[in-house]
Amino acid sequence: MTPFQLTRTLAEDAMDAALRADVRRGLTAHPKTLPPKWFYDAHGSDLFEQITELPEYYPTRAEREILLARSGEIAAALPARTLIELGSGSSDKTRHLLGALTSLETYVPVDVSESALTQAGKALVADFPGLSVHALIADFTAGLSLPATPGPRLLAFLGGTIGNLLPAERAEFLTAVRALLSPGDALLLGTDLVKDERVLVPAYDDAAGVTARFNKNVLTVVNRELGADFDPAAFDHVALWDAEQEWIEMRLRSRVEQTVKIPALDLAVDFAPGEELRTEVSAKFREDGVRAELAAAGLELSHWWTDPRGRFALSLSTAR
Ligand code: AVJ
Repeated sequence: MTPFQLTRTLAEDAMDAALRADVRRGLTAHPKTLPPKWFYDAHGSDLFEQITELPEYYPTRAEREILLARSGEIAAALPARTLIELGSGSSDKTRHLLGALTSLETYVPVDVSESALTQAGKALVADFPGLSVHALIADFTAGLSLPATPGPRLLAFLGGTIGNLLPAERAEFLTAVRALLSPGDALLLGTDLVKDERVLVPAYDDAAGVTARFNKNVLTVVNRELGADFDPAAFDHVALWDAEQEWIEMRLRSRVEQTVKIPALDLAVDFAPGEELRTEVSAKFREDGVRAELAAAGLELSHWWTDPRGRFALSLSTAR
C-alpha cells in the first residue's frame, strides 16, 4: 500500500458543470445568491488560511484549543481505525487527532481543493509514519462514496463548515453522513456557537480587509472560469447577523448600477445600485439544536466539548 494516494471522484468537467449551474441559478434568482463552495480556488484557500490567523476570527483557534485538550478523550470514546475528514483543507488542526488516535490506519481527507489536499497529504505522510493517507477530491455536498477502509470509522467535519448549509440542506447532509457510517461509528462535528453580535460580526468583517478579499474572490473565480467581467472594486463587502435565523450572512453589495456579462452562460446580469448578492450563510448553533438535528439523522450525541470561553463546540455522536 502506498502511503499517499489521491483520488479524483469529481471530474473536472462535473465541477465545471456544477459551477455553471450554480452561477446561472444564483444570479438569475431574487435575491441573487452564490454558494460559498466557490470561494475555494487556490487563492481563496490561501485567503481562508489567512483569515484563520486574524485576531477577530476566533473559530479556528477555539476549535484547536478543544482538539488539543480533548483528542485523548475522543480517541478513548472511539478508537478509530479510519478517520475520514470532510472539508479537510490544510488538515492542520487534525494533527492533534491523528496523534491521539493510536489505532488509526487510514486517514481519508476529502476536499474540493486539489492544491490543499496534495500539500497537506505529503506533509502528513512525512510526519505520521505508518499512516496511509487516501485523499479524495470530492464535493461532499453532492453525495460521497468512500474507499473501503476498516472500522470503527470516525468521520470528522470540523471548522463549523456545517453552518454554511441551510437547515434543510443540513438535514439532508447529516442523513447522508449517517448512511456512510455503520452502527457504532461516530461523527465528530465542529459547530460555532451563538454569541454576542459584537464578537460575531467583526469575525466576518475584519479590520485588515482579508475577509472582504476572500468574499470578492468568488467574483474572480467566476471571471476566470466562465469568462465573466465582474469588477470586484464595484462591490462592497457586507457581513451581518440575522438574529432570527441565528446566522451570519456575507453579501456583496453593488456600488453602482451595472451589467455583468457571463459569456460561458450567454448571460447578462443587471445589478441595481445597492443591490446585494448573498455569498455565504454561516449559521451559529446551540447544544439543544445540534442534539436535535443529529437525532433526526439517526446520530446520538454522546459528548459535547467547548473551549473555556464557550465560543465553539465539538460534539461526538454515534450512529445508531
Ligand atoms: C470555513 C465555512 C467555517 O463560515 O466561518 C470565514 C468560512 N467565511 N470567513 C466560516 C468563512 C468568512 C468559514 N468556514
